[in-house]
Amino acid sequence: MCRSLTLATILLLTTTLAGAATPEDAIKYRQAVMTTLAGNVSAINLIFSGKVEHQDALLGHAEALAAAAGRLGSLFPAGSGTGKTDALPLIWEEPERFQKAIETGRTATAALRDAVRSGDRAATARALKPVFDACKGCHDRYQKPE
Ligand code: HEC
Repeated sequence: MCRSLTLATILLLTTTLAGAATPEDAIKYRQAVMTTLAGNVSAINLIFSGKVEHQDALLGHAEALAAAAGRLGSLFPAGSGTGKTDALPLIWEEPERFQKAIETGRTATAALRDAVRSGDRAATARALKPVFDACKGCHDRYQKPE
């Protein structure tokens, strides 16, 4: 019975179980999560500035933002630097520095979430700029200019 499991099948199963994505899908997922970040940042801006009434959604957006930013560390697997991507090769050439940019993004979005959760408007206002700076700081160095 077991012999009918060829090596190729076993390898295929292992790959499937390990969840190894194709580079194309890894790139698509990365861009989808980035789009989520951008959507939540825009929503937070609109609500916090009072341009729209959706105060009750503010915390949800801040939580979604922090959760999506929490994925940053897994969005740049080796081999996902070529294809339909604006990610620059520098990401994989200086992993330690890139890791710091990820940490900055995670920390800033977590701090914003905590500030919104605390209900402290001044603290929330203060926590917004570090988030923009974290997005921009990473894009300026690691994303292809438009
Ligand atoms: C650690 C680095 C890093 C951080 C932090 C970061 N980004 Fe990105 N972002 C990138 C890279 C690299 C790309 C290019 C991804 C690609 O094309 O594969 C990108 C792409 C994008 C895109 C384009 C997605 C698409 O469909 O092509 C948007 C929008 C975006 N980021 C928004 C944000 C926002 C908003 C934040 C902050 C809350 C943020 N990013 C934080 C590195 C980062």
